[in-house]
Amino acid sequence: MSKLWGGRFTKKTNQLVEEYTASIGFDQELAEEDIQGSLAHVTMLGKQGIIPEEDAQTIREGLQKVLQKIRSGEAEYTIGDEDIHMNVERMLIEEIGPVGGKLHTGRSRNDQVATDMHLYLRRRVVEFVDMLEKLQGALLLQAKQHTSTILPGYTHLQRAQPILFAHHLLAYVSMFQRDIERLQDAYKRINVLPLGAGALAGTTFPIDRHFVAEQLGFASVYENSLDAVSDRDFIVEFLAAASLIMMHLSRMSEELILWSSTEFNFVELDDAFCTGSSIMPQKKNPDVPELVRGKTGRVYGHLVGLLTLLKSLPLAYNKDMQEDKEGMLDTVKTLQGALQLFAPMIATMKVNGEQMRQAVNQDFSNATDIADYLVNKGLPFRQAHEVIGKTVLYCIQHHKFLLHLELDEFRQFSELFDGDIYEVLKPEQVVNARNVYGGTAKPQVEGAIVRAEAALEQT
Ligand code: ARG
Repeated sequence: MSKLWGGRFTKKTNQLVEEYTASIGFDQELAEEDIQGSLAHVTMLGKQGIIPEEDAQTIREGLQKVLQKIRSGEAEYTIGDEDIHMNVERMLIEEIGPVGGKLHTGRSRNDQVATDMHLYLRRRVVEFVDMLEKLQGALLLQAKQHTSTILPGYTHLQRAQPILFAHHLLAYVSMFQRDIERLQDAYKRINVLPLGAGALAGTTFPIDRHFVAEQLGFASVYENSLDAVSDRDFIVEFLAAASLIMMHLSRMSEELILWSSTEFNFVELDDAFCTGSSIMPQKKNPDVPELVRGKTGRVYGHLVGLLTLLKSLPLAYNKDMQEDKEGMLDTVKTLQGALQLFAPMIATMKVNGEQMRQAVNQDFSNATDIADYLVNKGLPFRQAHEVIGKTVLYCIQHHKFLLHLELDEFRQFSELFDGDIYEVLKPEQVVNARNVYGGTAKPQVEGAIVRAEAALEQT
């Protein structure tokens, strides 16, 4: 089969070169966007009188037929046609004859491929915002049921201070909110049209880029033609945002994995989201969070891969840039898979409040509050810290927790202790004492839930 660009060549392409340089194996994912872009381009060619209106009409109809064939799986791609752009053009010409060859007037694959990528990511970013909101919804659903459930909060993975389970979940709601905002911000740079840049310098035809932008729903067009075909910042931004989303999911995964271990036993993931062992009959493994944690690495890899690919690339298009696609496509797939599972997995998760409660009763996470108690009785904080440190050491040596100490025992360490200390020690009291904006006290957490729900409803 002859090449669409075969004119200046006297030899057939080496078979291995054909295989090595072809991108059709992966860029066929962009078929819908490629045709969408071509439809807008050819409509503009007709409107501008660059090609006759009836030819534009014939090409549009041809493109629709090609689209149908692609959708029905009837279309056959060949690596001889290298990429999705030339495969579609070839199919178009087969469909409507040589008039199909007018489609590529005033256009290059360089501005075409960039346009496809912008269209592709624009659609995905909108979907990801939606998926993140669903996940926030699932977290809020759980949070609302657990505004009285207390668990140990950790620092250094050591018991630190008790917190409401709802408060812990709301931390993730906030993280995913930043992710949403990052995607929405990246959207501004994605929603810009490169088409019309030609190969690199523009085109001799009297095209109307703004008309094409309007048809495709782009907010603006690239200011500079070299930049339009060289820019892949918008993909880097997407991969960076995706990396952060995966990082957040991975941190949550790690907690879910720990929490569903026998040692913690704080939560139980629904059977539908776990798998068993082929040898150990008792096992119920948290494979989904484990895989999400694992797959985070490949998304980071794609980000670093693309940054490295772009480093030192001269303007404008270089074939290196064909390597921008697989990482992006894989990131989209990886993120879709994770987000799709996380929302229902969180919504159906069973929370073992009893176990959390027991854990809180068997630790020293109320120690800060006793120090604060002494401060309120006039002792400087640093001294109070020392006193409670000694008290805790005494407890450890006597296999007791602070709640179990008699008033006399407390008084060995400070005369300032009184009967009211026992109120201060209670986990509810410890939690509710942190009644600052953003803190874990119940009224604060309830307020945070109301605000988060209102923000979610606004979207
Ligand atoms: N398949 C190519 C890519 O993905 C399309 C652009 C090719 N342009 C070129 N001048 N060879 O980058």
